[in-house]
Amino acid sequence: ASNAMWGGRFAAGPDAIMQAINASIGFDQRLYAQDIRGSRAHAAMLAATGILTHNDAEAIGEGLLTVLSEIERGDFPFSVALEDIHMNVEARLKEIIGEPAGRLHTARSRNDQVATDFRLWVRDQCDAAVSGLRALIGALLAQAESGAGWVMPGFTHLQTAQPVTWGHHMMAYVEMLGRDMGRFADARARMNECPLGAAALAGTSFPIDRHMTAEALGFDRPMANSLDAVSDRDFALEFLAASAICATHLSRLAEELVIWSSAQFRFVAMSDKWSTGSSIMPQKRNPDAAELIRAKIGRILGAAVALFTVMKGLPLAYSKDMQEDKEQVFDAADTLMLALAAMEGMIGDLTVNRDRLEAAASSGFSTATDLADWLVRAAGLPFRDAHHVTGTLVARAEAKGCDLPELSLEEMQAVHPAITSEVFGVLGVHNSVASRQSYGGTAPDQVRAQIARWKQRIG
Ligand code: ARG
Repeated sequence: ASNAMWGGRFAAGPDAIMQAINASIGFDQRLYAQDIRGSRAHAAMLAATGILTHNDAEAIGEGLLTVLSEIERGDFPFSVALEDIHMNVEARLKEIIGEPAGRLHTARSRNDQVATDFRLWVRDQCDAAVSGLRALIGALLAQAESGAGWVMPGFTHLQTAQPVTWGHHMMAYVEMLGRDMGRFADARARMNECPLGAAALAGTSFPIDRHMTAEALGFDRPMANSLDAVSDRDFALEFLAASAICATHLSRLAEELVIWSSAQFRFVAMSDKWSTGSSIMPQKRNPDAAELIRAKIGRILGAAVALFTVMKGLPLAYSKDMQEDKEQVFDAADTLMLALAAMEGMIGDLTVNRDRLEAAASSGFSTATDLADWLVRAAGLPFRDAHHVTGTLVARAEAKGCDLPELSLEEMQAVHPAITSEVFGVLGVHNSVASRQSYGGTAPDQVRAQIARWKQRIG
């Protein structure tokens, strides 16, 4: 039999494989709530503008609520023959209310319908990402607050560079994730225009009120161009791009947790709740959640690349290619929300080994820059000369098997006569971090000021 929704010109139904490649109901059933909400707004508008009778519109509105509760109860027979969520809902509505159901699709196409449903769905995911990020930032702020003054090695090239504080390191991620929050909020604001009423592509000859449906669905305004409204998926691309950047940040933090929890570092310990064991090595305590978060960027960036590739070069307006948008975004969104929640749990539960942090910060000549800076300040050396003198001192210490503060004054003066005992005051790691008072620097007061600013912003 031919399709009940569009079969008028067809004598035969589709091949089974045609149906299999064409149907999206297997995944777009996730849009049921958005689809029903959009249809209810559309029906109410059709009645308000006199295009439908109030009786018909009411029957449609009520019937759609019945469909909604059937789906929510898990009592809805999704049909592949009916292709997608839009036609499944409408066909069921027809079974429930009869003839008026056929009037719902007046002045509408599945093209503007799906664009509207999907925008509503992605908009919710932007909000979910913002709240997931807010929770994670809260957990990082708590860590930063406890450890605002704990000294740890800062790294470049994963080699000990200069001492920083635990709080400072945590706050670096707060800044990154804060920008992610901004990206999702910006994307939401930009996508918050309503495609409904663009119809297939050209608009409609019916006297619809697009402002009314836009407002009913919580959009700021209707989209201004009907071709654009049904053609673009930039809102989904923007969500995926923001997700990929956010997942990149998460993967870096995850990687640090993996490194820091290793036996060689022992900077942190993950609680039992966030660790797994090995089936052969009884001693193992593996950071699987961190490793998986580190890996999730692969799927999320993959989804972004997939949808960019689908969209590039598509002529206006709607093409069926665009049905490929949903699985990518669904998977990326699920993955991101799970990764955010897991990271929040791990950070909240992390035990930090303050003594190990400080011991690691105190080795590896981490205060060599402080020594060079002191030679500039106290002995008036040009920085390049001070750098060279300090390098020589590091080599001496290394040969002796000690760190800089363990060199004697005589050994230092043998390298440069201007060095006095005052230098020992700058070689300690606490002095080092306390001296980094420049705005945004690692000095504990600077870090505390940033924590206070963020606590206010996060609320
Ligand atoms: N299932 C389709 C999608 O996800 C809905 C729009 C179909 N429109 C059409 N003219 N075939 O994109």
